[in-house]
Amino acid sequence: MEEELYKTLPKHTCTWLQGIVTLYKYQGFWNSQTFHEKSMLAQSYKAQPSDILLCTYPKTGATWLKALTFAIVTRKKLDEVASANPLLTTLPHDCVPFLENHLEKIKANPSNYPILGTHLPYSFLPKSVIASNCKIVYMYRNIKDVIVSYYHFTRELVSLSVEDAPFEEVFDEFSEGVSSYGPYWDHILEYWKASQERPDIFHFVKYEDLKRDPRSNVKRLAEFLEYSFSIEEEKAGVVDDIIELCSFDSLRNLEVNKTGKQQVDEHFAMEHRLFFRKAEDGDWKKHFTDEMEHTIDKLVDEKMSGTPLVLK
Ligand code: A3P
Repeated sequence: MEEELYKTLPKHTCTWLQGIVTLYKYQGFWNSQTFHEKSMLAQSYKAQPSDILLCTYPKTGATWLKALTFAIVTRKKLDEVASANPLLTTLPHDCVPFLENHLEKIKANPSNYPILGTHLPYSFLPKSVIASNCKIVYMYRNIKDVIVSYYHFTRELVSLSVEDAPFEEVFDEFSEGVSSYGPYWDHILEYWKASQERPDIFHFVKYEDLKRDPRSNVKRLAEFLEYSFSIEEEKAGVVDDIIELCSFDSLRNLEVNKTGKQQVDEHFAMEHRLFFRKAEDGDWKKHFTDEMEHTIDKLVDEKMSGTPLVLK
């Protein structure tokens, strides 16, 4: 995107991040200049009908969804789900890379990456994705836990303590729609509307449903991906093995996820442990005032009316 264009876009410098991050609103969605650039470049990706695209708003459970999908799709190649599985030694985000963050690597060897992740809003997806009819899984999560997860993840990424990063400020920004890839509700609504037109290529998973009933949800996901579990596999405990392998406690205790890190850009490295914080439903209760709860409930009631999606 032309440098000049940024001067014309709505701009917001995040005070709760002590001004380290500036977001621009482009075609309805906020993001840093770096990520807007990456979104533009991602347009050149040529999707294949066999691709599986895992789409998420940040902090809604991409790490878990990637691990589960990878384990489901690769299981035929493994004698046992849990032995020698790449997930035991590799961060799920490296097994299933983000399209916009690893474009060159993916384009150089597309067959190595049949499953891709993305945070891109639906309207920012490469046109080839829709034309290819590839499968799209969209995961979403209760907005209050997303705000809390986003707060801690971003805060830790830029090494700010809780005292130095006021939660009230991220709450205000987020509920005004100003967050990376936000507004969160528009991210969901775009995918939801698209799924109404093409129900055959979309599958929605809710983080809390997956937590409450992993068996049914993992089986439904596998069915949608056309990697259904056979009766023999179910009897042999393959579904349960996959759920266990990808569980929060299993993944977060692996050496690669406890101590690994990777360079994001010339300025900072991202520690893998940041992707595994608490995974608690309702952690928001420790952060929200009654007023915040009321504000966000009213907001999502308004925004999500007309859909069966519940974000509260
Ligand atoms: P919390 O910050 O609430 O703990 P994403 O993967 O989209 O970045 O989302 C991160 C959130 O998912 C974090 O939530 C993280 O702890 C949680 N998470 C990571 N791995 C998980 C797993 N295997 N099962 C359930 N939740 C997981």
